[in-house]
Amino acid sequence: MIADNDRLLEVAWQGATAAGQLIQESWQKPKSIEYKGPIDLVTSVDRESERLIIGTIQHYFPDHSILAEEETIVDGSDQECRWIIDPLDGTTNFAHGYPHFCISIAFENRGIMMMGLIYDPVRQECFKTVRGGGASLNGAKIHTSAVPQLDKALLGTGFPYDRRQFAEIYLSYFKAFMMRSQGIRRGGSAALDLCYVACGRFDGFWEMKLKPWDVAAGALIVSEAGGVLSDFFGNPFSIYGQETLACNPLIHREMVEIASGVAKETRVD
Ligand code: IPD
Ligand code: CA
Ligand code: CA
Repeated sequence: MIADNDRLLEVAWQGATAAGQLIQESWQKPKSIEYKGPIDLVTSVDRESERLIIGTIQHYFPDHSILAEEETIVDGSDQECRWIIDPLDGTTNFAHGYPHFCISIAFENRGIMMMGLIYDPVRQECFKTVRGGGASLNGAKIHTSAVPQLDKALLGTGFPYDRRQFAEIYLSYFKAFMMRSQGIRRGGSAALDLCYVACGRFDGFWEMKLKPWDVAAGALIVSEAGGVLSDFFGNPFSIYGQETLACNPLIHREMVEIASGVAKETRVD
């Protein structure tokens, strides 16, 4: 059975603080690293963080279903309630001791995202939302920026793990946005990129091939902060889709124009 929103947030926060403490204590120490692909890392801290978060959720909601990045898929007796977790978003940064990574926890009911919490343990910044209740950063309401045109916009982006194979395609988007925006940053954590759009540090963000756990919490935080999400053609956003475009509403048309133009040019059919 679905719990009330405050309870969901409390449990997510309890899991995030336990995992956050672990990450905070370990990010400057040597790591044990394994490879999921040539440049796709996982550390023992990713796995331990996932165990801590899932342990917390299952303590309070033993029936709920769970989808988490590092191999935890729980088909709970309650299929309507599902948690979607990235226990450490920004693993490459973490592995190198570059202080920009976070924990992302979302909750959905019957396929509708209801709650999202993203915690940056280095800056101790907690972005939170519940559907219909706005979004906040450390308790203060946040809103997307008011930058009215792409020419004045600071954008975020990232590159998928198959970037060595598809470098030309990803760089075509980068070049097109570079020519039209004020600047582009590649932070290395898609979940934090979305939070930065939500609080106006970025005016927009695009990336391809993100996974549900990268975007589930962040997408709700963006839309509750007044932002817009879509695919590169302006169609409704899905956490299972191949394209993420998120921005303040004022530059959405321009971002879609550029992203869809590059998509048509670079499409491999
Ligand atoms: C990655 C980060 C990165 C993005 C990648 C993601 P991970 O997640 O969000 O910014 O560019 O596409 O896979 O592997 O660090 O959890
Ligand atoms: Ca991730
Ligand atoms: Ca991760």
